[in-house]
Amino acid sequence: MVSFRFRSKRWRAAAYLFVVMFTLAIYMKFFPSRVKFDSSTTEWDDLSSSEFNPTVDGSVNHTDLIWQLPAGAPKAVLFIAHGCNHRATDFWDNSSGCPHCIGLPEERLIVLKALRRGYAILVISSLRTCWSLGDEVESVERLIKWWIAEHRLQKLPLLGLGASSGGEFLSYLATSEQIKFRSIAILIAEGVIDTLTTLPVDYPPTIFVHMPKDAVMERSVNGTLKFLRDNLNVPVKEIRCLEFPLTPELLSDRIPGLSRGVSVWLFRQFRKRGFIDDKGFMKNDGRETKWKSFLDDGVSIPAGYRSVVNNHLDHIEEELNLAFAYHEITSLEMDKIFRWFEVHMKSIN
Ligand SMILES: *[C@@H]1O[C@H](CO)[C@@H](O)[C@H](O)[C@H]1NC(C)=O
Ligand SMILES: *[C@@H]1O[C@H](CO)[C@@H](O)[C@H](O)[C@H]1NC(C)=O
Ligand SMILES: *[C@@H]1O[C@H](CO)[C@@H](O)[C@H](O)[C@H]1NC(C)=O
Repeated sequence: MVSFRFRSKRWRAAAYLFVVMFTLAIYMKFFPSRVKFDSSTTEWDDLSSSEFNPTVDGSVNHTDLIWQLPAGAPKAVLFIAHGCNHRATDFWDNSSGCPHCIGLPEERLIVLKALRRGYAILVISSLRTCWSLGDEVESVERLIKWWIAEHRLQKLPLLGLGASSGGEFLSYLATSEQIKFRSIAILIAEGVIDTLTTLPVDYPPTIFVHMPKDAVMERSVNGTLKFLRDNLNVPVKEIRCLEFPLTPELLSDRIPGLSRGVSVWLFRQFRKRGFIDDKGFMKNDGRETKWKSFLDDGVSIPAGYRSVVNNHLDHIEEELNLAFAYHEITSLEMDKIFRWFEVHMKSIN
């Protein structure tokens, strides 16, 4: 009798659990959370990846040119143009092969994912803080051409990814007669194509990845999308990146060398100081949030944490900007970008 009652209770509990799970599943299907990013499902368990093995051609015409070939036969060449105040050295982890590299979290994941996808990566630093559409265009054309010939990759499709200033630069470089891009990805930038007086006849298919919280940018991207589609008959696509909440482990999940302890401590400080709301969303852009100041305002900092934070200020700020989703480079949409690239690789060959 006792055992029967026990079993029936267990059965009721199981049935109850089933109903709850079923309801939850239906609910999640019809009301997907606005939060697309779940750090617990990221595949980057091996954060400090041993797959990085860059070659730095640091003295080619006074700019950094850093490259890496994938493990197997490459299927495409991906040229990457960074934003203002950034450099090619942001895209690889610091190693003996690249002692000036600082491996910013989004940049390094873009490279890592692209390598795993079989792309040869070429990153060139701008000559000045931002890219210019002057003599720099010709010099980058020459460098890309030279590098591709040097590695005998002329037969592979050339792809481009540019962020912010690098996106504007790439959108212009894509009109080049010297190098022909098969398709390009413009991140957090509107492109300059609709401002040109002479229009190219064969502009490459273009995917825009932007953050609609920046409404001015959204309007410009809308305009460029329409221009490319209607005036140049170019295939276009847009990916809209939305904000997501910080979690206590977000920073340690995405920044190699930043421990879980530091991550959880920072998260608590952010909450205590009102930088994030009670759901974990950033209230402002990371650049606008005076989050570094509490390191100096007499707060008691666990031993060793200060130096870890100080060594990762740019890394942390980048993730805060990304979570706020106003203006930051992102690696979160790379799978969609690769699919876009690959659809347009096939369609021409
Ligand atoms: C890279 O690592 C080396 C050796 O560990 C170190 O001396 C150097 O300061 C690091 N560079 C950067 C930019 O972090
Ligand atoms: C480097 O610059 C020189 C002088 O401007 C030019 O002749 C040469 O082609 C350039 N090399 C590359 C690889 O772009
Ligand atoms: C941009 O276009 C989308 C639809 O394609 C529209 O919903 C949105 O309001 C537009 N944004 C701006 C700022 O014009």
